[in-house]
Amino acid sequence: MKILVVGSGGREHALCWAFGKSQKVDKIFCANGNHGISEQAERVDILPNDIQGLLNFTVQNKIDLTFVGSENPLALGIVDEFEKHGLKIIGASKAASQLESSKSFGKDFMARHNIPTARYKIANSVKEASEILESDFPGDKSLPIVVKADGLAAGKGVIVAVNRAEAMKAVNELAQIAGKVAAQKIILEECLIGKEVSLLLFTDGKNFVLMPPCRDHKRIGEGDTGANTGGMGTFTDNKLLSEQQIKQICREIVEPTLKGAAAENFPFAGILFLGLMLTIDGIKVLEYNVRFGDPETQVILVRLKTDLVDICEAIDSQTLSQINIEWEAGSSACVILAAKNYPQTPVTGSIIYGLDEFAKTDDLNIFHSGTSKDSKGNVITAGGRVLGVTVKSGDLDSALEKAYQIVSKINWNGMRFRRDIGK
Ligand code: AMP
Ligand code: GLY
Repeated sequence: MKILVVGSGGREHALCWAFGKSQKVDKIFCANGNHGISEQAERVDILPNDIQGLLNFTVQNKIDLTFVGSENPLALGIVDEFEKHGLKIIGASKAASQLESSKSFGKDFMARHNIPTARYKIANSVKEASEILESDFPGDKSLPIVVKADGLAAGKGVIVAVNRAEAMKAVNELAQIAGKVAAQKIILEECLIGKEVSLLLFTDGKNFVLMPPCRDHKRIGEGDTGANTGGMGTFTDNKLLSEQQIKQICREIVEPTLKGAAAENFPFAGILFLGLMLTIDGIKVLEYNVRFGDPETQVILVRLKTDLVDICEAIDSQTLSQINIEWEAGSSACVILAAKNYPQTPVTGSIIYGLDEFAKTDDLNIFHSGTSKDSKGNVITAGGRVLGVTVKSGDLDSALEKAYQIVSKINWNGMRFRRDIGK
């Protein structure tokens, strides 16, 4: 069969790699991919947001299954459009995508369905945000407050402000970003304290299967300092959540989310990603994402034993309860290598050295996020996050050790990474 993967980052590289392992797959296309992806898939020069272009390509090339990696095409309604034309596609519908594409929609949805989340208020202007900060976050002015832009901002629309004055500064900053589209509304939230876990699941709308829990390291700096990024590294480790916590999450979060979505007429099928905070007052949802995470996908898919095509077919035919999804035991880790000046103004075009030194095995993958080739055939940086060194191993420590060994052999001018992934 022929597969089309939509997107161009490390997540999509991992997806192409996983589809490539399926006996059922003859050919993979990726729109529009990156240099690394061209090893597994034929790159198609159509941007992920060009829904009509992707639709035409899919019909002309008789694609059997399309898998959407990134959030923007989902928010634009790619799934609804493909389904209207009878095409098989995995991803959330336009209506369901609002859980991610509008943080205010997601927060109000959680409130309607009693799903535990941080206390919040929504402001429609900078002035209103300032008033809310005075009226709804009274008391100690030195308490942290989280300020979020409403719309999609590639993981950069959230500022954890250390106090009320900084929160006001953050409001002004977010009001400026992304041509103002992302920031029409601003969400002000109580700052939750605890450990974060990303929990992703496959769902056909009714049934769901959890993936191994992961942790993402979102800040640019070691010790969780500096700006939020798309993610600087991840690991999976079953010890991140106890059996009892998993049961609680299913009961208090997953089930009400799927039931709530169905009751509001947007049954949720595809991949649901819960950003969770384990607080002393219980487990709370930080955010919903309606797709695989990046770089969560890299560490999850290297542990997937079941054929990804079979899972997609089961989601499509709403028979997820009939398939047994299996995972490799142990752990996995991904260390992101990012460009100079990421996340602000990443420098592209730097020659990457050391990439040819490793034989790829099932346990070691270097997934490309933002790479390209120059006219002389050198592999060069072409984005903020550039590579994700991903290792699967029997335990977390050995996965990390191996990943950092590989990292030490790769370099380019200004390459940056965190040395404390998994710590
Ligand atoms: P989000 O895009 O909503 O997941 O936010 C990005 C990151 O900001 C999260 O992974 C957390 O590290 C942090 N964050 C978001 N909301 C909160 C909150 N209410 N309290 C503490 N940290 C938060
Ligand atoms: N790594 C976080 C995300 O994909 O949203």
